[in-house]
Amino acid sequence: MNPYETDKLVSEYLLFHYGEPREVLPWDFGPASALNYAVRCVSECVEVASLPQNARALDLGCAVGRSTFELARHCTEVIGIDYSHRFIDVAAALAGHGTFPYERTDEGALTTRLIAKVPADIARDRTSFEHGDAQRLRETLGSFDVVLAANLIDRLNDPSGFLAHLPALIKSGGQLVLTSPYTWLEEFTPRENWLGGFSADCLPRTTLDGLRAALSAHFDLMQTKDLPFLIREHARKFQWSVAQASIWRRK
Ligand SMILES: C[S@@+](CC[C@H](N)C(=O)[O-])C[C@H]1O[C@@H](n2cnc3c(N)ncnc32)[C@H](O)[C@@H]1O
Repeated sequence: MNPYETDKLVSEYLLFHYGEPREVLPWDFGPASALNYAVRCVSECVEVASLPQNARALDLGCAVGRSTFELARHCTEVIGIDYSHRFIDVAAALAGHGTFPYERTDEGALTTRLIAKVPADIARDRTSFEHGDAQRLRETLGSFDVVLAANLIDRLNDPSGFLAHLPALIKSGGQLVLTSPYTWLEEFTPRENWLGGFSADCLPRTTLDGLRAALSAHFDLMQTKDLPFLIREHARKFQWSVAQASIWRRK
């Protein structure tokens, strides 16, 4: 079964995207700089000053939608697409009602009922959510001023095929934000399709090397950033990761 269709991951991602700092991390000594990742993927990576009026944005692998809503602070139309029906149903409900109740796991079967809330100052009617495969997007999507793919590339079967379609999706001067901890796993991506994380001709090939090779003909690499993030499994177990953001501008 697709893990992103399970109750467990729906709850974990609602907390990851919408949890208040104290709801996620009850420990004063914890890695607070890793909180609010879905917000920071937009606030720290998208150059909002250079966006045109009526900008269009696309959030690929949007999960339960927080970055899609954050993009709507700066863009008048934002489409969130994800392969998980459950995630898209939840994101669409949040777009409709602004809130969504869920259970946070604390310990074993002990849970706390929380409510995910889209910030009130975000125009939710600028957003729409749809089920889709980022590797086979519908041809009627049009083109975008910003495309965000947060923690997506290492979950794809064919990341190179995905990257090859990006030039057609992004307007000249538009921004591409890719973030990923580069956790390559054969259960998602066959080894021969990894973009990096292996030796080639006795030299280490990083995923950033692979991204440069795939994208440089059509994009300039503007900068890279290290973005920590924290996913809570329960009150005493967390995944602390450091994604690399690479921020590109369409030639
Ligand atoms: C690691 S999660 C990241 C979610 C979100 N962007 C974030 O940063 O929290 C990967 C997401 O990609 C989605 N996904 C996996 N394969 C996909 C595909 N082929 N097309 C669209 N979404 C996909 C999953 O359902 C999941 O929501």
